[in-house]
Amino acid sequence: MQEIGIAELKKLTEVIKEKFGYDFRDYAMSSFKRRVTRILELKKIPNVEALTLQIAGNVFVKEDFLHEITVNVTELFRDPSFWRIMKTVLPNLYLNQEKIRIWHAGCSSGEEVYSMLILLKEMDLIDKVEIIASDIDKCILAKAKEGKISIRNMELNEKNYIRYNPTGDLKKYFLYDKDYVYFDKDLLSKVSFREINLAEVKSFTKCDLILCRNVMIYFNQNLQNDVIKLFHEMLFNYGYLAIGSKESIIWSEYANKFLVVNNEEKIYKKFKE
Ligand SMILES: C[S@@+](CC[C@H](N)C(=O)[O-])C[C@H]1O[C@@H](n2cnc3c(N)ncnc32)[C@H](O)[C@@H]1O
Repeated sequence: MQEIGIAELKKLTEVIKEKFGYDFRDYAMSSFKRRVTRILELKKIPNVEALTLQIAGNVFVKEDFLHEITVNVTELFRDPSFWRIMKTVLPNLYLNQEKIRIWHAGCSSGEEVYSMLILLKEMDLIDKVEIIASDIDKCILAKAKEGKISIRNMELNEKNYIRYNPTGDLKKYFLYDKDYVYFDKDLLSKVSFREINLAEVKSFTKCDLILCRNVMIYFNQNLQNDVIKLFHEMLFNYGYLAIGSKESIIWSEYANKFLVVNNEEKIYKKFKE
């Protein structure tokens, strides 16, 4: 496959914006390019120009295209050490209040949210929480709402869980069927799922904890800065922000408004309006 040029990608993002209303102009170009290459191979489209023409000619359904262009990889208890630290962070949020609000921004198929629900259940905090989970991708949100995971992924999920809680039993939170497992319906009912595009949303409800892990890695610094600004505004003072272990906020304009709680797991605490 021939090398994809910047001008071609720019044109593609303009047509995507015009046809679907999604703005990918502030996405990190290297990963966006990899996703475009993947679509070309998958759909057997010869080049970016042909893909651009197909989008302009309404060949793609908006939701299907979005599902292909976004990266949805996730796991239960992804980065187990993060969840061990979360266990020590959560009680701090209850020091001055009975109930807290958590927002999972970019929740993908829901494994991060299910992990949080299990953690809260195991800490006996499940009735003292409101959870909102959002993603730009409607198809993946539908999957998250279903609570369904392929049984093939459970070996890794169980390994992660054991690293977070060596004496626990992950199986008790799932109903096992032949090829799939289904997450506990009572726990799942605690979550409100919403379609939210972080590149466009200007305001949200105030939260005590925001998780946006492995999402901003796909954005350029401009968009990352805007999203960090949004999270700063949407956090109560002394609220926490958790991002992916390969991400950072220290370079951003808002860095001096957060304290570093854990640098390895990228957990921050807002201390200044
Ligand atoms: C790699 S997954 C991360 C899932 C989970 N947070 C984790 O760490 O395992 C990235 C998710 O970000 C979502 N995403 C990408 N761009 C977005 C945007 N502009 N607004 C909201 N979600 C977005 C994708 O649809 C995808 O589900």
